[in-house]
Amino acid sequence: MIHVDPSMTDEEFLRLFEKGIQAQWGTDQIDWGLTEGISEPKKLALGQLITPVYLGEQTAMLGVSAVLPMILTNGQAEPALYLASMGLDEARHFRNLNHLYRVLNVEPLPSRRLPEMWRYHARLLQKHDPVQWVFGILISDLFAKTFYGGFAERFPDTVVGRLSRRTLQDEARHQAFSDRYLNRMLPTMDPDAKNELLVLRDDLFRIMEKLGERLRGPMEVLDWSPEEFLKELWGDTERWVKRLGLVSLTEV
Ligand SMILES: [Fe+2]
Ligand SMILES: [Fe+2]
Repeated sequence: MIHVDPSMTDEEFLRLFEKGIQAQWGTDQIDWGLTEGISEPKKLALGQLITPVYLGEQTAMLGVSAVLPMILTNGQAEPALYLASMGLDEARHFRNLNHLYRVLNVEPLPSRRLPEMWRYHARLLQKHDPVQWVFGILISDLFAKTFYGGFAERFPDTVVGRLSRRTLQDEARHQAFSDRYLNRMLPTMDPDAKNELLVLRDDLFRIMEKLGERLRGPMEVLDWSPEEFLKELWGDTERWVKRLGLVSLTEV
């Protein structure tokens, strides 16, 4: 239930909200002209590899707008406040990638070439539960982080690297949100509901394995491989799962 005048005492979320506001930035803070040194084949490969991230930013906007009303109507005003700032971050990431395609003068993959992204999207939409959503958003943030991290490493002094590094700062805040929210909610959940989170993780990873296979060609152009990508993402996800205390459930 929405409260007219909530007490707003949850300092952790309020601090995160303030950070979210203060860390806003716009397209004018990126030097879009820095494309020197990115060869044509690499631009084409980037066009294909950015596609899942591009769609992922839109999925993230959708995720935030799906989960915000659930959390606000649960009477959790502070995390709902933070989510509103996160929605703006995801909108900025979406807008920036839209602009980057024009700057690089390449096309994203047509959606029929990436059916896994639609499966991923559909899997996230399956549950109408805020904790499932936030956990799905966390995995999606880690997915974006692995891509942006790889781009930043491979194109450090170009528009691609600079944009990626800046975006990663926003993504780090999103992970801090998921961490706090899941830590609050997990103790209230029964073992079956917790186990469903791991089922979601496994389903999303199965989809990502197929997606990686499809992206092998452009990844090789950038000296990258689906195995390397998935190993890093899995390692990251496992660290979170352990940190949230979910892993012991798989062992019992
Ligand atoms: Fe994002
Ligand atoms: Fe995010």
